Amino acid sequence: MTAELYYFSGTGKSLVVARDIANTIGAKLISIPTVMNRESVETDADILGIVSPTYYMRLPRIVESFIGKLINLDSKYVFGIVTVGGIAGGVLDQLSDAINRRGGILGAGFVVRMPANYIHDADALPVFLQKRMFRKWEQRVNEITDFVLDGKTGRMDKSSRLMTLVFSHGIDGKYSRGEFSPRIDENFWTDDRCNGCGICAMVCPVSNIVTVDAWPVWQHHCEKCLSCIQWCPKEAIQFRKVTLKRRRYHHPKVGLADMLKRSIGED
Ligand SMILES: Cc1cc2nc3c(=O)[nH]c(=O)nc-3n(C[C@H](O)[C@H](O)[C@H](O)COP(=O)(O)O)c2cc1C
Repeated sequence: MTAELYYFSGTGKSLVVARDIANTIGAKLISIPTVMNRESVETDADILGIVSPTYYMRLPRIVESFIGKLINLDSKYVFGIVTVGGIAGGVLDQLSDAINRRGGILGAGFVVRMPANYIHDADALPVFLQKRMFRKWEQRVNEITDFVLDGKTGRMDKSSRLMTLVFSHGIDGKYSRGEFSPRIDENFWTDDRCNGCGICAMVCPVSNIVTVDAWPVWQHHCEKCLSCIQWCPKEAIQFRKVTLKRRRYHHPKVGLADMLKRSIGED
């Protein structure tokens, strides 16, 4: 039995989840941006996994486009994992519909809670809470991999209805006000700590940053993954004024080298 695991990750949590699963089931790990220059994506693997963060209770645009490229899914076991900071909402339904449109079936969908990275909305969690979530994830890896390796179906994790109801109004409001538009990057800027190292351009998984005279310039096809802001070694990138005093965060088990491997067109 062969397996391939496609992932998208801004700050490393979906990467860690994908890597832990791939290592346990012996799957090939593939960064979604690296295959986006293909017209279609076909795999010979029997098992296909997709791991993604959740943005505004939806899939990142790039993950939806990637699924639109998949072909010949009908005979495969497909599973999905979304990482969340709090509320998944309908993201697994969206994933399932997208797979259906490609002729496949989402056999199982899992929601994995991780420390939230949305520095534009809230500060990073205290480290002891982050560690607790990482431990919980480590305890869950085998549950998911056993389910997948047994080829079981019918499991679709759900967010609490009450929590979804409470938060969806605000989240949908932000979505419809354009907080997730590709031009949201007009709100990024650098303060005087920027030393022109160019790491922001290198870690952007969708090549949305170019450096002009050493200054980052955002190109308006932003996924809002926050990789640039969270990986800047000088903490010099800001989003509006709200990030000036907030702590930066990325997964401790992910280094810069891991981030650089996952960019667009490096297939
Ligand atoms: C723009 C944006 C929107 C987000 N929206 C949600 C959301 O609606 N619900 C949620 O639970 N987490 C949300 N998050 C948190 C991420 O889904 C979560 O932190 C995820 O684990 C990040 O994965 P990564 O480290 O692989 O990028 C959002 C994060 C960002 C950057």
